[in-house]
Amino acid sequence: MDNKANILAISGSTRSSSSNLNLIKAIAGLRPEAFTITIYEGLSDLPHFNPDMDTANLHPAVAEFRKRISQSDGVLICTPEYAMGVPGTLKNAIDWTVSSMEFSKKPTALITASLSGNMAHQSLSGTLQVIEAKVTDETHLLVPFVKTKISDAGEITDMKTLDEIEKLLTAFEYLIRNGKDQ
Ligand SMILES: Cc1cc2nc3c(=O)[nH]c(=O)nc-3n(C[C@H](O)[C@H](O)[C@H](O)COP(=O)(O)O)c2cc1C
Repeated sequence: MDNKANILAISGSTRSSSSNLNLIKAIAGLRPEAFTITIYEGLSDLPHFNPDMDTANLHPAVAEFRKRISQSDGVLICTPEYAMGVPGTLKNAIDWTVSSMEFSKKPTALITASLSGNMAHQSLSGTLQVIEAKVTDETHLLVPFVKTKISDAGEITDMKTLDEIEKLLTAFEYLIRNGKDQ
C-alpha cells in the first residue's frame, strides 16, 4: 500500500443528486492525507446476477467490478434503504462477489444514510458478515434523516454526524493499516 489507502466507494443510490453520493464526496474531502477515494460508477452496468453467467467468460462489467474491489485497500459503502431493504442495484452487485470472494478479509466501512434505514443496515451488515468482509462495530454507522444532515452542496451540516463519521474514518484507517490479519 502507498502512504494513502485506496478506497473504492460505492453509493447504493444511483440518483444523480443522491445524499449518499454527496456523503461519499464529503468524506473524500475529510481525510485527503489518509485516503484516496475513487467512486465506483458502474452499478447500473452490472447484469442481473445469475449463477449461470458466473463462468470464465464473465461479463466485462462484472470482471471490472471484481477487479476494482480486489485492487482496493478498502471499500466504503454508503446506501439508502428502499422499501425496508437494501437497494436492489447494490445487492445485485454484492451478489456478483459471493462466489469470487473479493470481499473476504477486505476492510469495509458501511454507512446507511436514509430516512430511517434500520432494516437495510441490519440486512447489509448480515450480508457483509456472510461474505467475510472485515467490518467492525466502529466501521459501520446508521445516519437517519440524512436529508437534514447533508446539504445539496455536499456539506455535512449536522455536527454529531460529522463527529460520528470522523470516528468511523479513524477506525477504518486503523482497520486497513493494522487489522488485515485479525
Ligand atoms: C422507492 C423508495 C423507497 C423508499 N423506502 C425507504 C425505506 O424503506 N426506508 C427509508 O429509510 N427510506 C426510504 N426511502 C427514502 C430514502 O431513504 C431517501 O429518499 C434517501 O434520501 C435516498 O437516498 P439518496 O438521497 O442517496 O438517493 C425510499 C425512497 C424511495 C424512492
